[in-house]
Amino acid sequence: MALHRLLDMEIGVPEPAALDDFLREIGLSGENGRWGGEEQPDQIRVVEAPFRQLVSMCVACESEEDLAIAAKALDELGAKADIGNGKLRLTDPINRWEMVVEPAEVRDIETRPERTRNRPGQRPRTDVRAEAITEAKPRPPRRLGHVVVGTPDPINTANLYKALGYRVSDVIGGGLATFMRCSPDHHNLLVAPGRVPYLNHYALEHDDFDSVARAATNYLRNHEDDRQIAGPGRHQIGGNEFWYMLDASGNFFEFFSDMDRIDDDAAWEIGTDWAPADSWSLWGEEHQPEVFFNPVDMDEIVAGWEKQHG
Ligand SMILES: [Fe+2]
Repeated sequence: MALHRLLDMEIGVPEPAALDDFLREIGLSGENGRWGGEEQPDQIRVVEAPFRQLVSMCVACESEEDLAIAAKALDELGAKADIGNGKLRLTDPINRWEMVVEPAEVRDIETRPERTRNRPGQRPRTDVRAEAITEAKPRPPRRLGHVVVGTPDPINTANLYKALGYRVSDVIGGGLATFMRCSPDHHNLLVAPGRVPYLNHYALEHDDFDSVARAATNYLRNHEDDRQIAGPGRHQIGGNEFWYMLDASGNFFEFFSDMDRIDDDAAWEIGTDWAPADSWSLWGEEHQPEVFFNPVDMDEIVAGWEKQHG
């Protein structure tokens, strides 16, 4: 496996300080534009930009040889990547954000003590209260898990990321949206349709659904304006339990847990044509809310994009 981990992303917003405050509020560690879980600091960088946007993403590969392989595959698509200082850099020719690939150690983050759960016929927790209740503090998000982008050209964007080394996990509507991974996670990138290229959401992994639900309800209760987007639910594609909300800059963010994992590429059966109606949630809201595809600030993003790149 050449690519093995999502390292970081950079988000540009008009008011970076507000997004910094938000990332602190939801329990990430860091300061001044650099945030992450305790074991993976600096996974989200915040910079100033004229409208909210994805500025860059960085993924890890195993060795420098992988950089040359990716550069050659990109070249065959007419995309020119630069290799220097041990990294590959590509300005995505369709979406204009920057992609970086660099060799890094293969590793996952440490597990935290599992909360004991009682279930029919198996009752390991007796004579004590549940850890979810007795733990002194809510558990924070552990890491950045995936990024979802909208693009006017989802098929060629997916082809570009395949050349970069991402693998396809599932496809909706014959190519309308493509779930891709640069690690054993079911998806680290979802390429979906958009009027212009934009950041649809970024997703932070929690230890379990108790943590997702506690963190989400705390966040929603702390804000008088309505920051609920969708959830809770469990996606059929990827299997993750989810809850989507608005951050302080108008991006959607997701808390998730229990995503499908693909260690053996040959063993995974790719769904090549999921029907959009069967690809939202197994339980909870029946349909994906319309705002999901059309954020309230979409006109602003389109105008900003056209000014910057049009
Ligand atoms: Fe997501």
